[in-house]
Amino acid sequence: MTAVRLAVDIASFAYPDGTAALTDIRLEVRQGEFHALLGANGSGKTTLLKAMDGLIRDYRGSVLLDGQNILKLHPKEIYRKVGLVFQNPDDQLFAHSVSEDVAFGPRNMGFGEDEVSRRVIAALEQVEMTADAARNIHHLSYGQKKRVCIAGLLAMGHEILLLDEPTAGLDPVGELRMLALLQKLNRSNNVTIVMATHAVDLVPLFVEQVHILAKGRLVCSGSATELFSSPEEMAAVKLRLPYVAELCWQLGADGLQLERLPLTIDEAKTKITAAKSLLKGSL
Ligand SMILES: Nc1ncnc2c1ncn2[C@@H]1O[C@H](COP(=O)(O)OP(=O)(O)OP(=O)(O)O)[C@@H](O)[C@H]1O
Ligand SMILES: [Mg+2]
Repeated sequence: MTAVRLAVDIASFAYPDGTAALTDIRLEVRQGEFHALLGANGSGKTTLLKAMDGLIRDYRGSVLLDGQNILKLHPKEIYRKVGLVFQNPDDQLFAHSVSEDVAFGPRNMGFGEDEVSRRVIAALEQVEMTADAARNIHHLSYGQKKRVCIAGLLAMGHEILLLDEPTAGLDPVGELRMLALLQKLNRSNNVTIVMATHAVDLVPLFVEQVHILAKGRLVCSGSATELFSSPEEMAAVKLRLPYVAELCWQLGADGLQLERLPLTIDEAKTKITAAKSLLKGSL
């Protein structure tokens, strides 16, 4: 069994204005896992990520990072291990130019200038922003800013990455590439990842463990296959199935026999082709 990196056990958390944001949240993230938090707007995803990064403190319960109460750790001990990419890039970016912003983290971690520039170049390459290195941050589009935020974290080389909607605002190809990059970091560099996302169509392609939040509560946890089982269950938590699964569900209602609901195009193609040839054989 791999080590538990983050153990969340929050009975309740309310913001200072009294808004209840988290209730009965229990989950564990082990070394090398890739988790997704799904849920409607306001369901508590961002709040939960902030708790995992030690940014909110006044909850009943505990968050353990490598077995230690995160509230008792010095911020430097947290930031050495855990990096959080904010939902809104404007909350994260502050330097004048792209390369200066990405350099800030590794420079602050004490790396020499040669190592800092090596890291900046590599991180900008990974998010395909090399050509924009010298540009003014304020002149970038939303999706470009988002990539720069992620480059800033990649340059620091965290063991655990918390990402708040990393694909929001990216174009369709950029969205796929971002998830492929996160998957590569997870699989090749053993980076542990927790991301909040609304990208239900992409989750089954990339993520092993899914947690569904509704009104601040953890409704269920499991693999995409276990959780994405029917449109009604998804609608009850204000989510939807991946479109391809919705199509297969409707085909199932029309009589197509599929023993399990396919969640990706490849799976659907294989299953529909098999079901069609069975049908032909019986004619
Ligand atoms: N600073 C704050 N003060 C008061 N209430 C807040 C604050 N931030 C968030 N909330 C409330 O806490 C609840 C959870 O919000 P949160 O931002 O965690 O949701 P979310 O799942 O990330 O939503 P979204 O998909 O829109 O990003 C909501 O009811 C929200 O209005
Ligand atoms: Mg959010």
